Amino acid sequence: MIYPIIMAGGSGSRLWPMSRSLYPKQFLNIIGKNTMLQDTVFRLENMDAAQPLIICNNEHRFLVAEQLRDIGVNGKIILEPEGKNTAPAIALAALKAVEAGDDPLLLVLAADHVIQNRNAFENAVSEATNLAEQNKLVTFGIVARSPESGYGYIHRGKACEGGFTVSQFVEKPDKETAQSYIDTGDYYWNSGMFMFKASQYLSELEKYQPEMLEICRKSMISSTKDFDFIRIDGEIFGNCPSESIDYAVMEKTDSAVVVPLDAGWSDIGSWSAIWDVSQKDSDGNRILGDVITHESSGCLVHGEDRLISVLGLNNVVIIDTKDAVLVADKSKVQDVKNIVSKLKSSN
Ligand code: GDD
Ligand code: MG
Repeated sequence: MIYPIIMAGGSGSRLWPMSRSLYPKQFLNIIGKNTMLQDTVFRLENMDAAQPLIICNNEHRFLVAEQLRDIGVNGKIILEPEGKNTAPAIALAALKAVEAGDDPLLLVLAADHVIQNRNAFENAVSEATNLAEQNKLVTFGIVARSPESGYGYIHRGKACEGGFTVSQFVEKPDKETAQSYIDTGDYYWNSGMFMFKASQYLSELEKYQPEMLEICRKSMISSTKDFDFIRIDGEIFGNCPSESIDYAVMEKTDSAVVVPLDAGWSDIGSWSAIWDVSQKDSDGNRILGDVITHESSGCLVHGEDRLISVLGLNNVVIIDTKDAVLVADKSKVQDVKNIVSKLKSSN
């Protein structure tokens, strides 16, 4: 049986002003009827999987509990007093998973991904299951199409059953390096989902990040239970180094393999990525809410309460919320996070 871990502690700042620190994107229904967290849970429906274990920030505990309850799921929820990035988050989840003496296969998912072809995803997970049982750290690789600098890059090595060995893993290279990888045609983007035995991840962490592991162990031992919530002690966890699994383990390990994934995956990291995966009208506009467009194309327009009219604009993003409006060039939307930083520093 698979033991799903859903990481839901990110801030989603590139989707401002819809995604806010009190309400980040994984808890919004930006794409469909359900929130991204709920869609992540639904993605497990046909798998032989235990109830998911969610790991998120303490601030979001009621949002998570309510969104799970709404879809009839009662998974356990680990509450981090502060975000220390994904390596410690997964360590806490792995420690929880081995608590009863088992060593389950963890399927580590992000709560903010879109996967359009569920069947292809299920097939990839089934390949990954075999490899993870052989003590591999499995990544799911998306054929790299453009030199995005926000992704991890996986250099494919020799073919192995169901996938390839990883000859190199490089987290977030600069654009030039990314372009040189794209040119070779042998690279995948890291999708940010992983599969491995809980014990395998913990022993890799022991090797590369012993201090992090020790603090996570102590934090888990001193955690307190409160219905479905597992509360992590702030004083102990506060000393944990902050690092992503990609830098802490994946760049260093010899045990990584990659299973190719062609399933309409997107991490909708920005407004243009949302435009990419959304249904558009015949002018290539994606509109939501009360919106009129004229002689405009390639735009993304989200309205909430009032009418928005767009005239003669191409490739523009307009996001209107109750207290803030974003108007941006669609090719610049990666930098929305800079606006958020500016806002934070001026407050
Ligand atoms: N619980 C918890 N605690 N979750 C976290 C934390 C944390 O401190 N930080 C991030 N997360 C969650 C986010 O909500 C998201 O679901 C997931 O972990 C990944 O974090 P991101 O911050 O979104 O990572 P990224 O997008 O910069 O990079 C990762 O994903 C890319 C693909 O989307 C890396 O794995 C890259 O290599 C990968 O290409
Ligand atoms: Mg992300």
